[in-house]
Parts: sequence; C-alpha cells; structure tokens
Amino acid sequence: MNILFLNGSPRKSGYTVGVMKCIEKGIDSQHSVEWIHSYDLDIKPCISCLNCRPNRECILSKDDGHNVWHKIRSADAIVIGSPTYFGNISGQLKILIDRNLTAFEEIAKSGLEMPIPLHNGKKAIMVTACNAPFPISQLPTQSKGTLQAIEIVFKAGGYNIIGSITLDGAASKNKIPLEIQEQAKILGTTLQS
Ligand SMILES: Cc1cc2nc3c(=O)[nH]c(=O)nc-3n(C[C@H](O)[C@H](O)[C@H](O)COP(=O)(O)O)c2cc1C
Repeated sequence: MNILFLNGSPRKSGYTVGVMKCIEKGIDSQHSVEWIHSYDLDIKPCISCLNCRPNRECILSKDDGHNVWHKIRSADAIVIGSPTYFGNISGQLKILIDRNLTAFEEIAKSGLEMPIPLHNGKKAIMVTACNAPFPISQLPTQSKGTLQAIEIVFKAGGYNIIGSITLDGAASKNKIPLEIQEQAKILGTTLQS
C-alpha cells in the first residue's frame, strides 16, 4: 500500500506531527509511507477558474500543487493532520486542499451534476492538536471545527474515516500522553489492513 501523510503544521517537532508519527509506527515496513509537509511547499492559491473540471490539470504555472495532485490520486490510504487555528485547519493546508479539488472528487464541467468521489472505501485518519483543554476543545470553534473541515474533504473523496485523534491542552503538556501514542499506533495498524 501507498500511504500518504499530509501534514498541515509548520512545526515538524510539534504535536500534530508527533501524533502522526505515532500512527506511522503502527504501519509495517512492507508498505510505503510518504510525507507531505504543506509548509515546505510552494503553492499558489486556487483562483476558482474551475478549469480543472472535470479532470484537467490546474492552469496555474507549475508548482508543488501539481505534484501533490498525483500523490493524493495514487495513495491507497491517507492521514491528514492539522493544528487547530481559529477552530479550523491551517492556512497552508487549506491552500493545498483547495488546489487539489479534483484529486479528491471529479466534477462535471457544467458543475450541475453531483461530484463523484474518487477514493471510495480507502481508509483515512484525521489528526489535530490544540491548546484548549478538554471539554472546551470539543467545541466547533476549537478542535471539532478542524476535524469537521478535514471530514468534509474526506467525505468528498468517499474515504472511509477509521478514526480521529485530538491532542488537546497542548500548551500544558510537554509530551504526547501514552494513551494517545497507543491509540495512534493502533489506528496506524488498522489503516494498513
Ligand atoms: C494562528 C493560531 C490560531 C490558533 N487557534 C487556536 C484555537 O482556535 N483553539 C486552540 O485550542 N488552539 C489554537 N491555537 C494553538 C494551536 O492549536 C496549538 O499550539 C497546537 O499545539 C499547534 O499544533 P502543533 O503543535 O502541531 O504546531 C492556535 C495557534 C495559532 C498559531
């Protein structure tokens, strides 16, 4: 299997990446794992020309957005992680996802027909980290909003969301709690099967 880890955090030693790495630990070495760190990429924002409908390349001049399109299309399973920023995903991850609309779903040129999900049944996991402590973290204005934003993308793609992990109260922690490490590793093992 080709498993794609899409990281929306600028902090490679932060909690989002930390939890995603725990998921990776649950994956056997026979599978290939690829990481995309959105903040390392040069991606111009989507200009809503919709030229990519139904299945054409983005008309913007070549940048990393085009490369990511192929990686999303060909991955057998996917993990998307983002820090919670104002109850949502990070800006750079949003740019990356918007630029890759047709990597997740196919839309007829007219835009009048229902979009067709391109990844029916593929497994997916959502991860977020936030500073708000439980139970405030569960509000739609906090980590729940972030997970909902990722869920919208996964649902559009037709993925089977097998789980999500929220690391809340990040500011008051100095490491990822053991139970979250374990939960993440188990999810990683489930992702590959
Ligand atoms: C621009 C910005 C907005 C943030 N908004 C929220 C928020 O709405 N709720 C929250 O609990 N934490 C918020 N935080 C805190 C981050 O979610 C927290 O620091 C998290 O651990 C970052 O993830 P990372 O460790 O992967 O970088 C915000 C941080 C930044 C920089």
